[in-house]
Amino acid sequence: MTEPRIRDATMEDAEALLAIYRPFVANTIVSFEVEAPSVAEFRQRIDHALERWAWIVAEQGGRPVGYAYGTAHRPRSAYQWSVETSVYVDDGHRGMGIGKRLYARLMPILADKGYCNAYAGITLPNEASIALHRSVGFVPVGVFRRVGHKFGAWHDVSWWHLPLREDPPPNP
Ligand SMILES: CC(C)(COP(=O)(O)OP(=O)(O)OC[C@H]1O[C@@H](n2cnc3c(N)ncnc32)[C@H](O)[C@@H]1OP(=O)(O)O)[C@@H](O)C(=O)NCCC(=O)NCCS
Repeated sequence: MTEPRIRDATMEDAEALLAIYRPFVANTIVSFEVEAPSVAEFRQRIDHALERWAWIVAEQGGRPVGYAYGTAHRPRSAYQWSVETSVYVDDGHRGMGIGKRLYARLMPILADKGYCNAYAGITLPNEASIALHRSVGFVPVGVFRRVGHKFGAWHDVSWWHLPLREDPPPNP
């Protein structure tokens, strides 16, 4: 396998990244969205994440095969230094170290921007995601039981935490 190239996302990636994400909305409980966003909406999400947090892409053979990003944990001000992270790798490219490379790049970017805590919510079961988060240093916080309802059933979400830095910057 050639080494994937990790780079910042651009607006032009929206269609390719949405193609990676869409099946998780349509067919799985990995995403709690029930309707896939439009390309325009997805472009806006990338734009918004780039403005405040980060959105990066893994590219192989000149085509995006995975992505990871940070976004708001919760909207109230006191949560501003905590970030929620997500990562998706395309079918056929999983289990090859791409998720780990993406997270290894994402976390220092978020820390440099002043974010102190990364949190990830993993709908259970998801062995690969739990293995990835554990592998890059996340520790389990707890499980929200029956917190999401999709495809006519309740689902548990396991929350994970990675400290990124001790304090926010003095003059944000
Ligand atoms: C979860 C996901 C992002 C992991 O990315 P990946 O590129 O497949 O994972 P990597 O190859 O980088 O592996 C990272 C670690 O997880 C382990 N791992 C990967 N897939 C695994 C699996 N199916 N079962 C058990 N462990 C697994 C690897 O062995 C590795 O562990 P190590 O660092 O201790 O050797 C990817 O599988 C994916 O996109 N899954 C579908 C979407 C998803 O669930 N996203 C997360 C939402 S919370």
